[in-house]
Amino acid sequence: MPRGLFITLEGLDGSGKTTQIKRLAAWLNKRSIDKRGTEKRGIDKRGHKVVVTRQPGGTPTGDRIREILLDARSTGLAPMAEMALMFADRAQAIAQVIEPALKSGAIVLCDRFTDSTEAYQGGGRQLGSAAVLGLHRLICGNLQPDLTLLLLPSLKTSLTRARRRNARTEEQTGKNEGRFESEQDEFFRRVWERYREIAAREPQRVVRIEGDLSIDEVHEQIVAAVAARLLSAAGNAQ
Ligand code: TYD
Repeated sequence: MPRGLFITLEGLDGSGKTTQIKRLAAWLNKRSIDKRGTEKRGIDKRGHKVVVTRQPGGTPTGDRIREILLDARSTGLAPMAEMALMFADRAQAIAQVIEPALKSGAIVLCDRFTDSTEAYQGGGRQLGSAAVLGLHRLICGNLQPDLTLLLLPSLKTSLTRARRRNARTEEQTGKNEGRFESEQDEFFRRVWERYREIAAREPQRVVRIEGDLSIDEVHEQIVAAVAARLLSAAGNAQ
């Protein structure tokens, strides 16, 4: 069985990743209508299973780590502890979800991966890229996505959306999961800049989708990038 394809979505809080990952999964699943017109859910045209996951979270242990990380009551969490928890979550997700899925030939769609740690902890918390990349080599065996879709609407749009969403969640659940959203604009500017540096450093892997586009426009650009990558993966496999 040829190895699957590992696709990550990245961007600031409120950049629209969650909506887009759902639409991309639906698009990949629609490709599953087989020759006789019967739909095989979760399998794309070439027989790929589609697995959707997110970080932090995505495993039972990861969900518990996520609660600590996002809960506004986790006050005074040291930046190094925060980074270590992100990697603990990721190590578990790689072992339990991502590697087995890739081995079985699946397309894995992951909402955030190590680029988030480089942007938020490396850039935002100013721990530096070298520390993050070093830990990634050690803890994640340097696993690299085949394709990363980086959503970059304007900083203002992202922050307004993220803060509004957090207020809504708090109203509905009584839980404030906005430990990150409550950071200052300066923090998010550093995150945003580090994302752009990553994209400039790795243009082959990272596709930037920039500007305040509609949901449909972003989806179209995502589909074009994924289709191109699927085609080249198919070419390599022949
Ligand atoms: P989440 O609610 O999943 O936000 P979003 O829907 O915008 O992805 O919260 C994840 C938060 O965790 C987000 O603010 C970014 C942060 N984060 C890091 O700081 N470092 C990381 O390595 C990861 C994976 C997430």
